[in-house]
Amino acid sequence: MTTGTTKATKRLHVITWGCQMNVYDSARMQDVLAPLGYAAADGPEGADMVILNTCHIRDKAAEKVFSELGRLRALKDAKAAAGGRMILAVAGCVAQAEGAEIVARAPYVDVVLGPQTYHRLPEMVARASRAAGAVIETEFPAEDKFDFLPDQSAAPGPTAFLTVQEGCDKFCSFCVVPYTRGAEQSRPLGAVLAEARRLVAAGAREITLLGQNVNAWHGAPGGLAELIKQLAGINGLARIRYTTSHPRDMDDALIAAHGDVPQLMPFLHLPVQSGSDRVLAAMNRRHTAADYLRLVERLRAARPDLALSSDFIVGHPGETAADFAATLDLVRAVGFAQAYSFKYSPRPGTPAAAAPSQVAEAEKDARLQALQALLRAQQGAFNADCVGRTVDVLFTGPGRHPGQIAGRSPWLQPVHAAAPATLIGRIAPVKIVAANPNSLSATLVHEEHLPA
Ligand code: SAH
Ligand code: SF4
Ligand code: F3S
Repeated sequence: MTTGTTKATKRLHVITWGCQMNVYDSARMQDVLAPLGYAAADGPEGADMVILNTCHIRDKAAEKVFSELGRLRALKDAKAAAGGRMILAVAGCVAQAEGAEIVARAPYVDVVLGPQTYHRLPEMVARASRAAGAVIETEFPAEDKFDFLPDQSAAPGPTAFLTVQEGCDKFCSFCVVPYTRGAEQSRPLGAVLAEARRLVAAGAREITLLGQNVNAWHGAPGGLAELIKQLAGINGLARIRYTTSHPRDMDDALIAAHGDVPQLMPFLHLPVQSGSDRVLAAMNRRHTAADYLRLVERLRAARPDLALSSDFIVGHPGETAADFAATLDLVRAVGFAQAYSFKYSPRPGTPAAAAPSQVAEAEKDARLQALQALLRAQQGAFNADCVGRTVDVLFTGPGRHPGQIAGRSPWLQPVHAAAPATLIGRIAPVKIVAANPNSLSATLVHEEHLPA
Protein backbone atom coordinates (compact mmCIF):
# COMPACT_ATOMS: atom_id res chain seq x y z
CA MET A 1 0.00 0.00 0.00
CA THR A 2 1.33 3.46 -0.77
CA THR A 3 0.79 6.37 1.50
CA GLY A 4 1.70 8.97 -1.08
CA THR A 5 -1.88 10.18 -1.42
CA THR A 6 -2.30 10.80 2.31
CA LYS A 7 -1.09 14.12 3.56
CA ALA A 8 0.94 13.74 6.75
CA THR A 9 -0.67 16.11 9.21
CA LYS A 10 -0.02 14.41 12.54
CA ARG A 11 3.15 13.50 14.36
CA LEU A 12 3.70 10.00 15.75
CA HIS A 13 6.53 8.94 18.04
CA VAL A 14 7.18 5.27 18.83
CA ILE A 15 9.47 4.21 21.69
CA THR A 16 10.67 0.60 21.28
CA TRP A 17 12.05 -1.77 23.90
CA GLY A 18 12.79 -5.49 23.69
CA CYS A 19 13.59 -7.82 20.84
CA GLN A 20 13.95 -7.35 17.10
CA MET A 21 10.34 -8.43 16.66
CA ASN A 22 9.33 -5.31 18.54
CA VAL A 23 11.52 -3.25 16.21
CA TYR A 24 9.70 -4.82 13.26
CA ASP A 25 6.30 -4.34 14.92
CA SER A 26 7.00 -0.66 15.63
CA ALA A 27 7.67 -0.08 11.94
CA ARG A 28 4.44 -1.89 11.04
CA MET A 29 2.43 0.22 13.50
CA GLN A 30 3.82 3.31 11.78
CA ASP A 31 2.78 1.83 8.42
CA VAL A 32 -0.76 1.11 9.57
CA LEU A 33 -1.17 4.65 10.93
CA ALA A 34 0.29 6.42 7.88
CA PRO A 35 -3.03 6.44 5.97
CA LEU A 36 -4.53 8.32 8.93
CA GLY A 37 -2.00 11.09 8.35
CA TYR A 38 0.57 10.13 11.00
CA ALA A 39 4.23 10.67 10.12
CA ALA A 40 7.26 9.88 12.29
CA ALA A 41 8.36 12.50 14.82
CA ASP A 42 11.87 12.62 16.28
CA GLY A 43 10.73 12.88 19.87
CA PRO A 44 7.59 12.70 22.02
CA GLU A 45 7.47 16.47 22.71
CA GLY A 46 4.33 17.86 21.11
CA ALA A 47 3.54 14.61 19.25
CA ASP A 48 -0.10 13.82 18.42
CA MET A 49 0.43 10.21 19.34
CA VAL A 50 3.08 8.35 21.32
CA ILE A 51 3.30 4.55 21.35
CA LEU A 52 5.36 2.72 23.97
CA ASN A 53 6.22 -0.69 22.50
CA THR A 54 7.18 -2.68 25.59
CA CYS A 55 9.06 -5.82 26.61
CA HIS A 56 8.26 -8.09 29.54
CA ILE A 57 11.11 -10.58 29.35
CA ARG A 58 13.17 -9.63 32.44
CA ASP A 59 13.58 -7.34 35.40
CA LYS A 60 11.18 -4.68 36.44
CA ALA A 61 9.63 -4.34 33.01
CA ALA A 62 6.33 -2.95 34.21
CA GLU A 63 7.97 -0.39 36.53
CA LYS A 64 10.03 0.89 33.63
CA VAL A 65 6.82 1.36 31.64
CA PHE A 66 5.10 3.24 34.46
CA SER A 67 8.05 5.57 34.97
CA GLU A 68 8.17 6.35 31.22
CA LEU A 69 4.40 6.89 31.26
CA GLY A 70 4.83 9.41 34.07
CA ARG A 71 7.24 11.39 31.91
CA LEU A 72 4.90 11.21 28.91
CA ARG A 73 1.95 12.30 31.02
CA ALA A 74 3.64 15.67 31.59
CA LEU A 75 3.99 16.09 27.81
CA LYS A 76 0.39 15.04 27.28
CA ASP A 77 -0.78 17.59 29.88
CA ALA A 78 1.33 20.29 28.27
CA LYS A 79 -0.20 19.54 24.89
CA ALA A 80 -3.71 19.63 26.39
CA ALA A 81 -2.96 22.97 28.07
CA ALA A 82 -2.04 24.31 24.64
CA GLY A 83 -5.42 23.14 23.29
CA GLY A 84 -4.13 19.97 21.59
CA ARG A 85 -4.39 16.24 22.27
CA MET A 86 -1.73 13.56 22.60
CA ILE A 87 -2.96 9.99 22.25
CA LEU A 88 -0.88 7.75 24.50
CA ALA A 89 -0.73 4.05 23.61
CA VAL A 90 0.99 1.12 25.30
CA ALA A 91 1.74 -1.83 22.99
CA GLY A 92 3.91 -4.95 23.21
CA CYS A 93 4.36 -7.65 25.78
CA VAL A 94 3.77 -5.61 28.96
CA ALA A 95 0.49 -4.39 27.44
CA GLN A 96 -0.47 -8.00 26.75
CA ALA A 97 0.49 -9.23 30.22
CA GLU A 98 -0.61 -6.29 32.35
CA GLY A 99 -3.16 -4.36 30.31
CA ALA A 100 -5.70 -4.01 33.11
CA GLU A 101 -3.09 -2.82 35.59
CA ILE A 102 -1.83 -0.20 33.14
CA VAL A 103 -5.31 1.28 32.80
CA ALA A 104 -5.85 1.19 36.56
CA ARG A 105 -2.54 2.80 37.46
CA ALA A 106 -2.25 5.17 34.51
CA PRO A 107 -5.81 6.15 33.58
CA TYR A 108 -4.50 8.85 31.24
CA VAL A 109 -3.38 6.08 28.82
CA ASP A 110 -5.75 6.07 25.82
CA VAL A 111 -4.98 2.77 24.10
CA VAL A 112 -3.59 -0.56 25.35
CA LEU A 113 -2.94 -3.15 22.66
CA GLY A 114 -1.33 -6.58 22.55
CA PRO A 115 1.05 -7.71 19.78
CA GLN A 116 -1.62 -9.60 17.82
CA THR A 117 -3.92 -6.60 17.41
CA TYR A 118 -1.77 -4.01 15.65
CA HIS A 119 -3.88 -4.16 12.50
CA ARG A 120 -6.79 -2.82 14.56
CA LEU A 121 -4.85 0.26 15.63
CA PRO A 122 -6.60 2.75 13.27
CA GLU A 123 -9.98 1.73 14.64
CA MET A 124 -8.72 1.95 18.23
CA VAL A 125 -7.29 5.41 17.60
CA ALA A 126 -10.61 6.52 16.13
CA ARG A 127 -12.47 5.17 19.17
CA ALA A 128 -10.00 6.83 21.55
CA SER A 129 -10.41 10.14 19.71
CA ARG A 130 -14.20 10.01 20.00
CA ALA A 131 -14.58 9.12 23.66
CA ALA A 132 -12.85 9.39 27.00
CA GLY A 133 -11.51 6.26 28.74
CA ALA A 134 -9.01 3.72 27.55
CA VAL A 135 -9.51 1.37 24.59
CA ILE A 136 -8.05 -2.06 25.42
CA GLU A 137 -7.36 -4.87 22.92
CA THR A 138 -5.42 -7.76 24.40
CA GLU A 139 -7.44 -10.70 23.11
CA PHE A 140 -5.80 -12.99 20.58
CA PRO A 141 -8.02 -12.24 17.58
CA ALA A 142 -9.27 -14.99 15.26
CA GLU A 143 -8.00 -13.16 12.20
CA ASP A 144 -4.31 -12.96 11.32
CA LYS A 145 -3.00 -9.42 11.65
CA PHE A 146 -0.64 -9.96 8.70
CA ASP A 147 -3.67 -10.30 6.40
CA PHE A 148 -4.70 -6.78 7.36
CA LEU A 149 -1.46 -4.87 7.85
CA PRO A 150 -0.32 -2.77 4.89
CA ASP A 151 2.95 -3.53 3.13
CA GLN A 152 6.11 -2.12 4.67
CA SER A 153 6.37 1.44 3.40
CA ALA A 154 9.68 2.78 4.65
CA ALA A 155 12.81 2.17 2.58
CA PRO A 156 14.49 -0.60 4.56
CA GLY A 157 18.14 0.37 4.04
CA PRO A 158 20.75 -2.31 3.28
CA THR A 159 19.56 -4.63 6.06
CA ALA A 160 15.95 -5.48 6.84
CA PHE A 161 13.97 -7.54 9.32
CA LEU A 162 11.12 -9.74 8.19
CA THR A 163 8.88 -11.45 10.74
CA VAL A 164 7.92 -14.92 9.47
CA GLN A 165 6.80 -16.63 12.65
CA GLU A 166 5.34 -15.50 15.93
CA GLY A 167 4.51 -16.97 19.28
CA CYS A 168 5.79 -20.00 21.10
CA ASP A 169 4.41 -23.34 22.27
CA LYS A 170 7.52 -24.42 24.17
CA PHE A 171 6.69 -23.05 27.62
CA CYS A 172 10.16 -22.90 29.08
CA SER A 173 9.75 -22.63 32.85
CA PHE A 174 11.10 -19.09 33.08
CA CYS A 175 9.64 -17.40 30.01
CA VAL A 176 6.68 -15.06 29.41
CA VAL A 177 6.70 -15.25 25.62
CA PRO A 178 4.11 -18.05 25.23
CA TYR A 179 1.74 -15.91 27.31
CA THR A 180 2.46 -12.54 25.72
CA ARG A 181 2.80 -13.62 22.09
CA GLY A 182 0.44 -16.56 22.09
CA ALA A 183 0.62 -19.82 20.17
CA GLU A 184 3.15 -20.50 17.44
CA GLN A 185 2.01 -19.21 14.07
CA SER A 186 3.77 -19.11 10.70
CA ARG A 187 3.20 -16.70 7.85
CA PRO A 188 2.63 -18.50 4.54
CA LEU A 189 5.50 -18.90 2.07
CA GLY A 190 3.93 -16.71 -0.62
CA ALA A 191 3.40 -13.76 1.72
CA VAL A 192 6.94 -13.96 3.04
CA LEU A 193 8.47 -14.17 -0.45
CA ALA A 194 6.38 -11.24 -1.65
CA GLU A 195 7.51 -9.11 1.28
CA ALA A 196 11.14 -10.15 0.74
CA ARG A 197 10.96 -9.19 -2.96
CA ARG A 198 9.56 -5.79 -2.04
CA LEU A 199 12.34 -5.24 0.52
CA VAL A 200 15.04 -6.18 -2.00
CA ALA A 201 13.48 -3.97 -4.68
CA ALA A 202 13.57 -1.12 -2.13
CA GLY A 203 17.29 -1.62 -1.52
CA ALA A 204 17.73 -4.38 1.09
CA ARG A 205 20.80 -6.56 0.48
CA GLU A 206 20.39 -8.59 3.66
CA ILE A 207 17.23 -9.96 5.26
CA THR A 208 17.01 -11.35 8.78
CA LEU A 209 14.04 -13.65 9.21
CA LEU A 210 12.49 -13.14 12.63
CA GLY A 211 10.45 -15.29 14.94
CA GLN A 212 10.37 -16.14 18.64
CA ASN A 213 10.95 -19.68 17.35
CA VAL A 214 11.92 -18.92 13.81
CA ASN A 215 13.16 -22.41 12.96
CA ALA A 216 9.77 -23.82 13.89
CA TRP A 217 8.42 -21.99 10.81
CA HIS A 218 6.05 -24.27 8.95
CA GLY A 219 4.56 -21.97 6.31
CA ALA A 220 5.43 -24.53 3.62
CA PRO A 221 6.46 -28.19 3.45
CA GLY A 222 10.20 -28.37 4.03
CA GLY A 223 10.12 -25.76 6.78
CA LEU A 224 12.61 -22.95 7.22
CA ALA A 225 15.22 -24.66 4.99
CA GLU A 226 12.78 -24.50 2.08
CA LEU A 227 12.00 -20.83 2.77
CA ILE A 228 15.72 -20.01 2.85
CA LYS A 229 16.29 -21.79 -0.46
CA GLN A 230 13.45 -19.88 -2.10
CA LEU A 231 14.76 -16.59 -0.72
CA ALA A 232 18.20 -17.40 -2.06
CA GLY A 233 16.64 -17.30 -5.55
CA ILE A 234 15.77 -13.60 -5.21
CA ASN A 235 18.13 -11.59 -7.37
CA GLY A 236 20.01 -8.96 -5.36
CA LEU A 237 19.49 -10.60 -1.97
CA ALA A 238 23.08 -11.24 -0.92
CA ARG A 239 22.69 -12.25 2.69
CA ILE A 240 20.15 -14.23 4.70
CA ARG A 241 20.05 -14.66 8.48
CA TYR A 242 17.43 -15.97 10.90
CA THR A 243 16.81 -15.57 14.62
CA THR A 244 15.91 -16.83 17.23
CA SER A 245 16.19 -20.59 16.96
CA HIS A 246 15.42 -23.39 19.36
CA PRO A 247 17.84 -26.36 19.36
CA ARG A 248 14.95 -28.82 19.09
CA ASP A 249 13.78 -27.31 15.80
CA MET A 250 17.14 -27.54 13.98
CA ASP A 251 16.13 -30.23 11.49
CA ASP A 252 18.40 -32.07 9.03
CA ALA A 253 17.35 -29.91 6.09
CA LEU A 254 18.15 -26.70 7.97
CA ILE A 255 21.54 -27.99 9.06
CA ALA A 256 22.26 -28.98 5.44
CA ALA A 257 21.16 -25.54 4.20
CA HIS A 258 24.01 -24.01 6.19
CA GLY A 259 26.38 -25.87 3.88
CA ASP A 260 24.36 -25.58 0.65
CA VAL A 261 23.09 -22.01 0.54
CA PRO A 262 25.93 -19.51 0.12
CA GLN A 263 23.66 -16.56 0.96
CA LEU A 264 22.97 -18.03 4.39
CA MET A 265 25.53 -16.30 6.60
CA PRO A 266 27.89 -18.42 8.73
CA PHE A 267 26.57 -17.13 12.03
CA LEU A 268 23.87 -18.68 14.15
CA HIS A 269 22.25 -17.51 17.37
CA LEU A 270 21.26 -20.73 19.09
CA PRO A 271 20.22 -20.25 22.73
CA VAL A 272 21.15 -23.09 25.08
CA GLN A 273 20.39 -21.37 28.44
CA SER A 274 22.36 -23.85 30.60
CA GLY A 275 24.95 -26.60 30.36
CA SER A 276 23.42 -28.68 33.17
CA ASP A 277 21.00 -31.45 32.23
CA ARG A 278 19.27 -31.07 35.61
CA VAL A 279 18.64 -27.38 34.99
CA LEU A 280 17.72 -27.93 31.34
CA ALA A 281 15.09 -30.42 32.50
CA ALA A 282 13.81 -28.00 35.15
CA MET A 283 13.65 -25.34 32.44
CA ASN A 284 11.53 -27.66 30.27
CA ARG A 285 13.99 -27.16 27.40
CA ARG A 286 13.65 -30.81 26.34
CA HIS A 287 17.25 -31.12 25.18
CA THR A 288 20.43 -32.06 27.01
CA ALA A 289 23.86 -30.47 26.95
CA ALA A 290 25.08 -33.41 24.85
CA ASP A 291 22.23 -32.84 22.34
CA TYR A 292 23.41 -29.27 21.97
CA LEU A 293 27.06 -30.22 21.51
CA ARG A 294 26.10 -32.80 18.89
CA LEU A 295 24.05 -30.22 17.06
CA VAL A 296 26.95 -27.77 17.03
CA GLU A 297 29.19 -30.51 15.67
CA ARG A 298 26.77 -31.28 12.84
CA LEU A 299 26.36 -27.59 11.99
CA ARG A 300 30.11 -27.12 11.88
CA ALA A 301 30.48 -30.20 9.71
CA ALA A 302 28.01 -28.60 7.26
CA ARG A 303 29.62 -25.17 7.49
CA PRO A 304 33.13 -25.26 8.98
CA ASP A 305 33.40 -21.47 9.44
CA LEU A 306 30.08 -21.22 11.31
CA ALA A 307 30.28 -18.93 14.36
CA LEU A 308 27.87 -19.40 17.21
CA SER A 309 26.05 -17.11 19.57
CA SER A 310 23.79 -18.08 22.44
CA ASP A 311 21.67 -16.99 25.40
CA PHE A 312 22.38 -18.11 28.95
CA ILE A 313 20.47 -17.80 32.19
CA VAL A 314 22.33 -18.10 35.49
CA GLY A 315 20.57 -18.78 38.77
CA HIS A 316 17.46 -20.56 37.50
CA PRO A 317 15.65 -21.99 40.56
CA GLY A 318 17.50 -25.07 41.77
CA GLU A 319 20.78 -24.26 39.99
CA THR A 320 23.70 -25.42 42.16
CA ALA A 321 27.38 -24.52 41.91
CA ALA A 322 27.93 -27.84 40.11
CA ASP A 323 25.16 -27.03 37.61
CA PHE A 324 26.74 -23.67 36.93
CA ALA A 325 30.14 -25.34 36.46
CA ALA A 326 28.50 -27.50 33.78
CA THR A 327 27.44 -24.32 31.97
CA LEU A 328 31.04 -23.08 31.99
CA ASP A 329 32.11 -26.48 30.66
CA LEU A 330 29.64 -26.25 27.79
CA VAL A 331 30.86 -22.75 26.92
CA ARG A 332 34.44 -23.99 26.86
CA ALA A 333 33.47 -26.95 24.70
CA VAL A 334 31.65 -24.84 22.08
CA GLY A 335 33.65 -21.61 21.91
CA PHE A 336 31.16 -18.81 21.21
CA ALA A 337 31.81 -15.81 18.96
CA GLN A 338 29.49 -13.80 21.16
CA ALA A 339 26.62 -14.42 23.57
CA TYR A 340 24.04 -12.87 25.85
CA SER A 341 23.78 -13.88 29.48
CA PHE A 342 21.25 -12.92 32.09
CA LYS A 343 20.47 -13.40 35.75
CA TYR A 344 17.30 -15.40 36.16
CA SER A 345 14.43 -12.97 36.72
CA PRO A 346 11.18 -14.35 38.13
CA ARG A 347 8.31 -13.52 35.79
CA PRO A 348 4.80 -13.39 37.20
CA GLY A 349 2.69 -16.34 36.09
CA THR A 350 5.56 -18.57 34.93
CA PRO A 351 6.21 -21.92 36.67
CA ALA A 352 9.80 -21.10 37.71
CA ALA A 353 8.68 -17.96 39.55
CA ALA A 354 6.76 -20.17 42.00
CA ALA A 355 9.58 -22.69 42.51
CA PRO A 356 10.77 -22.87 46.12
CA SER A 357 14.49 -23.12 45.42
CA GLN A 358 15.25 -19.57 44.28
CA VAL A 359 18.96 -18.73 44.07
CA ALA A 360 20.28 -15.86 46.19
CA GLU A 361 20.88 -12.61 44.33
CA ALA A 362 24.56 -12.42 45.36
CA GLU A 363 25.12 -15.92 44.00
CA LYS A 364 23.47 -14.98 40.70
CA ASP A 365 25.70 -11.91 40.49
CA ALA A 366 28.85 -13.94 41.06
CA ARG A 367 27.86 -16.58 38.49
CA LEU A 368 26.96 -13.97 35.91
CA GLN A 369 30.33 -12.27 36.34
CA ALA A 370 32.20 -15.53 35.95
CA LEU A 371 30.22 -16.53 32.87
CA GLN A 372 30.54 -13.12 31.25
CA ALA A 373 34.31 -13.08 31.82
CA LEU A 374 34.59 -16.39 29.97
CA LEU A 375 32.27 -15.28 27.15
CA ARG A 376 34.14 -11.98 26.79
CA ALA A 377 37.42 -13.85 26.49
CA GLN A 378 35.94 -16.09 23.79
CA GLN A 379 34.56 -13.12 21.89
CA GLY A 380 37.95 -11.38 22.14
CA ALA A 381 39.71 -14.47 20.83
CA PHE A 382 37.23 -14.83 17.96
CA ASN A 383 37.70 -11.19 16.96
CA ALA A 384 41.50 -11.35 17.32
CA ASP A 385 41.51 -14.38 15.05
CA CYS A 386 40.06 -12.25 12.25
CA VAL A 387 43.02 -9.85 12.19
CA GLY A 388 44.97 -10.15 8.97
CA ARG A 389 42.11 -11.86 7.14
CA THR A 390 40.16 -10.52 4.18
CA VAL A 391 36.40 -10.60 4.71
CA ASP A 392 33.34 -9.28 2.89
CA VAL A 393 31.56 -6.45 4.66
CA LEU A 394 28.07 -5.19 3.90
CA PHE A 395 28.36 -1.47 4.59
CA THR A 396 25.25 -0.06 6.20
CA GLY A 397 25.99 3.52 7.28
CA PRO A 398 28.47 6.13 8.42
CA GLY A 399 31.15 5.15 10.93
CA ARG A 400 32.11 6.72 14.23
CA HIS A 401 34.66 9.11 12.76
CA PRO A 402 34.52 11.34 9.67
CA GLY A 403 35.68 9.49 6.57
CA GLN A 404 34.70 6.14 8.08
CA ILE A 405 31.84 3.88 7.16
CA ALA A 406 30.54 0.89 9.11
CA GLY A 407 29.03 -2.44 8.29
CA ARG A 408 28.90 -6.08 9.30
CA SER A 409 31.10 -9.07 8.60
CA PRO A 410 29.52 -12.40 7.65
CA TRP A 411 29.77 -13.25 11.37
CA LEU A 412 27.78 -10.16 12.32
CA GLN A 413 30.78 -8.34 13.78
CA PRO A 414 30.58 -4.55 13.41
CA VAL A 415 33.40 -3.42 11.09
CA HIS A 416 34.70 0.14 10.66
CA ALA A 417 36.75 1.16 7.65
CA ALA A 418 38.06 4.35 6.10
CA ALA A 419 36.08 4.22 2.87
CA PRO A 420 33.85 6.42 0.73
CA ALA A 421 30.16 6.74 1.60
CA THR A 422 29.37 5.50 -1.92
CA LEU A 423 30.05 1.99 -0.64
CA ILE A 424 27.10 2.14 1.77
CA GLY A 425 24.60 -0.47 0.65
CA ARG A 426 27.31 -2.53 -1.06
CA ILE A 427 29.45 -5.50 -0.10
CA ALA A 428 33.20 -5.01 -0.38
CA PRO A 429 36.19 -7.06 0.72
CA VAL A 430 38.24 -5.50 3.50
CA LYS A 431 41.36 -6.49 5.36
CA ILE A 432 40.91 -6.64 9.13
CA VAL A 433 43.72 -4.66 10.75
CA ALA A 434 42.65 -4.53 14.40
CA ALA A 435 40.24 -6.21 16.78
CA ASN A 436 38.45 -4.26 19.47
CA PRO A 437 36.30 -5.91 22.17
CA ASN A 438 33.07 -5.42 20.20
CA SER A 439 34.14 -4.50 16.68
CA LEU A 440 36.81 -4.74 14.01
CA SER A 441 38.82 -2.08 12.19
CA ALA A 442 39.59 -2.65 8.53
CA THR A 443 41.04 -1.18 5.36
CA LEU A 444 39.59 -1.53 1.87
CA VAL A 445 41.21 -4.21 -0.22
CA HIS A 446 40.52 -3.20 -3.80
CA GLU A 447 41.32 0.23 -5.16
CA GLU A 448 38.60 -0.21 -7.80
CA HIS A 449 35.97 0.12 -5.06
CA LEU A 450 37.06 3.72 -4.54
CA PRO A 451 35.24 6.31 -6.61
CA ALA A 452 37.19 7.70 -9.56
N1 SAH B 1 12.83 -17.63 21.77
C1 SAH B 1 14.13 -17.49 22.19
C2 SAH B 1 14.42 -16.36 23.15
C3 SAH B 1 13.37 -15.63 23.84
S1 SAH B 1 13.77 -14.47 25.05
C4 SAH B 1 14.61 -18.81 22.76
O1 SAH B 1 13.89 -19.74 22.89
O2 SAH B 1 15.75 -18.91 23.11
C5 SAH B 1 15.47 -14.11 24.90
C6 SAH B 1 16.29 -14.61 26.04
O3 SAH B 1 15.93 -13.98 27.23
C7 SAH B 1 16.14 -16.08 26.32
O4 SAH B 1 16.87 -16.86 25.45
C8 SAH B 1 16.61 -16.17 27.74
O5 SAH B 1 17.99 -16.40 27.81
C9 SAH B 1 16.30 -14.80 28.31
N2 SAH B 1 15.20 -14.88 29.27
C10 SAH B 1 13.92 -15.20 29.03
N3 SAH B 1 13.20 -15.20 30.18
C11 SAH B 1 14.08 -14.88 31.17
C12 SAH B 1 13.95 -14.73 32.57
N4 SAH B 1 12.80 -14.94 33.19
N5 SAH B 1 15.05 -14.38 33.28
C13 SAH B 1 16.23 -14.19 32.66
N6 SAH B 1 16.41 -14.32 31.33
C14 SAH B 1 15.34 -14.66 30.59
FE1 SF4 C 1 10.59 -18.48 25.72
FE2 SF4 C 1 11.42 -20.99 25.62
FE3 SF4 C 1 9.64 -20.09 23.84
FE4 SF4 C 1 12.16 -19.27 23.75
S1 SF4 C 1 11.44 -21.38 23.43
S2 SF4 C 1 10.34 -18.00 23.57
S3 SF4 C 1 12.73 -19.17 25.88
S4 SF4 C 1 9.31 -20.32 26.03
FE1 F3S D 1 10.33 -8.82 25.07
FE2 F3S D 1 8.07 -9.65 24.07
FE3 F3S D 1 10.26 -9.65 22.58
S1 F3S D 1 8.75 -9.97 26.12
S2 F3S D 1 11.84 -10.05 24.08
S3 F3S D 1 9.26 -7.87 23.39
S4 F3S D 1 8.65 -11.15 22.57
